Order: sequence, then C-alpha cells, then structure tokens
Amino acid sequence: MVKIVYVGFGIVSQGLADIILDNNSLLPIAEGTEIKTVGILDIMKGSKIDEQGIDMEEVLTNANKGDYSLLNDNVASITIAIEEINADIVIEASFTDIKTGQPAISHIVSALNTNKHVVTTNKGPFAVAYKQIFNLARLKKKVVAIEGTVMSGTPIINVLNNGLLGAEISAVSGIMNGTSNYILTKMELGMSYKDALVQAQELGYAEADPTSDVEGLDTLAKVMILANVIFDVQLDREDITVSGISQITLADVKGASSNNKRWKLIGRVWKDDQGDVHGSVSPKLVSMSDSLYGISDATNALKITSNILGDTTIVGAGAGKNETGFALYNDIISIVNG
Ligand SMILES: NC(=O)c1ccc[n+]([C@@H]2O[C@H](COP(=O)([O-])OP(=O)(O)OC[C@H]3O[C@@H](n4cnc5c(N)ncnc54)[C@H](OP(=O)(O)O)[C@@H]3O)[C@@H](O)[C@H]2O)c1
Repeated sequence: MVKIVYVGFGIVSQGLADIILDNNSLLPIAEGTEIKTVGILDIMKGSKIDEQGIDMEEVLTNANKGDYSLLNDNVASITIAIEEINADIVIEASFTDIKTGQPAISHIVSALNTNKHVVTTNKGPFAVAYKQIFNLARLKKKVVAIEGTVMSGTPIINVLNNGLLGAEISAVSGIMNGTSNYILTKMELGMSYKDALVQAQELGYAEADPTSDVEGLDTLAKVMILANVIFDVQLDREDITVSGISQITLADVKGASSNNKRWKLIGRVWKDDQGDVHGSVSPKLVSMSDSLYGISDATNALKITSNILGDTTIVGAGAGKNETGFALYNDIISIVNG
C-alpha cells in the first residue's frame, strides 16, 4: 500500500488521479501494491484527510462538475497538515512562483522533514532552490522526483539522469514553452500575434496572464533546472539573458520563411571551453536542417548535444492534464519500485 497526499488539486493532480483510477490494477509494481489517496490539501478548493482512503471516483466525478464540496475538512495550515498526515508520498502540484519558489518550497521541506517522498511538477522550487532541496532529501534519505517540471510527461529528466549515463553533455537547447511555439506557428500562417495569443488562451495552452509564457520566464525556470540537472550548477537568474517573442512581428516571421528559416523561442544551457556554464532564453532563427525546425504548435522539443551521440532530440508534449499527470505517475512508480 502506497499512501499519497495531493497538495494542490487542480488540473495536474486531477490528471494523475484519473490515471491512477484507470490503471491501478495494471500498475507495473509489486503485486498487491495499491496507491491509496489519504489526503487532498488545496487552499481554495478545500481539503480532505482520511487515512482509510478517500473515494477518488466520487471526488473526481464531482470535480468534473466543478463541485468540491466533499473537500470540507477544516485545515488551517497546509504545511502543518503535510507534516501531520500519515503518508508515503506528497504530490506537490500547487501554484508556481518562479521568483521565490513559494509556497511549494515550504510544502516540500515539510514533507521531507517528516520523512515523506515528494513528486512534483512545480518548476518554482527547482529554479531557485534545487541544491537546498536535494541536499535535504539526501539527508532524509527520501526521493524528490521532478520529471514533470520540464516538458511534462515527455521523459527528459530521467533521460538526462539515467538514459545518457556515460555520455558527456556539452549543451541542451530546445523549445520548452508550448504557448509561444503555438503563437509563432500560427504567425507563419499569417495570423497576427494578438489573434494567435487569444487562440492559445482559448485552447487552454496560455494562462489568462500569459506574460511568463511569451516573455520567456517559464522557459527561464526550465533552463535553470536543466543547468542543475546536467551540470550541477545553480545559475544566477540575473546572469541569464532572457527575451521573449512579444516583439516578433509578422514581417519578421515572413522574412524568416522566405529564407527557409523559422523563429523559435529557444532555451539553452551550455558549457564553454573554460568549463563555465551559461544559460539563455531568446527567439532564434532556426534553419531547415535543425531538428527544432519542424516542431510546431504546442509541441516541445529538447536537443541534447553529447560527445558520443552528437545530437539527440526528444520531442513531445510540454503540458496538459494527462501528459503532466503521467509524469507524476511515472515518478510514483519509480519510487515504489525502489
Ligand atoms: N497544467 C500543465 O500542463 C502543467 C505542466 C507542467 C507543470 N505544471 C505545474 O504543475 C503545477 C500544477 O499545475 P495545474 O495546471 O494543476 O495548476 P492549477 O490547476 O492552478 O492547480 C493548482 C491548485 O493548487 C492550488 N493552490 C494554490 N496555492 C496553494 C497552496 N498554497 N496550498 C495548496 N494549494 C494551493 C490552486 O488553488 P487556486 O485555484 O486558488 O489557484 C489550484 O487549485 C503548477 O506548479 C504548474 O506550473 C503544470
């Protein structure tokens, strides 16, 4: 029996809950091992704690109608509730703050301090406090799993940590924000920046406030996480050049097309000849021969350059309920399988 508690019960947590309901009997983990939800802690939707197990089918059926009335336990402090609950794994899927990492850092620290593993899709804590969190996890001998922080359920962190063992990575560069890539793709078809942004919002790709997507801040957080994962370096936010796509005009896009090129918002991390690690986020002209040229709409891709393999490009979803829920699911299974 694996006992989990959700912190933040929005799109991603509900995606994971759906996957667990549909697949629990098929889990590729030891026979008889079952994932049981013992808590839901959400500052707005409400909370529920039941160590016997919450009926998630009922919670999700209601949630699909926008009804969270079952989450009616009186929880004064989410962090204290995380500390007090008897659970094995905390699913941290609350609000992202790229500048401070809060409140998620406090959630994660509370979980680790009370000997719980953490799986999360929240970029904020790992952009700003990667080392502190992993040092605490090591001290507590607990796992912190972050696959979903970069490109949702498309395997990136696991590939970098395990799949490329033995290869020396010198750089990664990629399209890591679906909203901006969607906008640029539509502009190639002649749509204005404004109309493409509205369409991205209607399709649920962009936030109501899309600043973080289009001005490169979302990609910046991923660049900072990748610098830690690949090079064990915490880049200073101020040392990373960041520019987004809001200044790109239809004329720019047309001009690129006539030269068989495309504008893409590229996040990049690389090590120079002196061994110093750098990061950047900016629109770049990409030529037809580049594996990132054909990445369209909200799809993401990361090109990994290593000494033995040359370029390896991983293409896949960068967001979405099921896609991001899957990242959490995959991380839970890894923890359960040891
Ligand atoms: N959606 C994606 O495709 C995707 C992809 C990759 C990563 N992520 C990351 O995954 C996380 C969850 O995303 P989401 O799309 O599920 O967001 P969401 O739908 O907004 O859900 C987050 C939930 O957490 C709640 N919350 C906010 N602050 C909290 C706190 N202090 N304690 C407890 N709950 C709190 C929110 O309440 P309110 O309703 O009041 O805000 C909301 O119900 C975010 O960090 C996001 O950046 C999402």
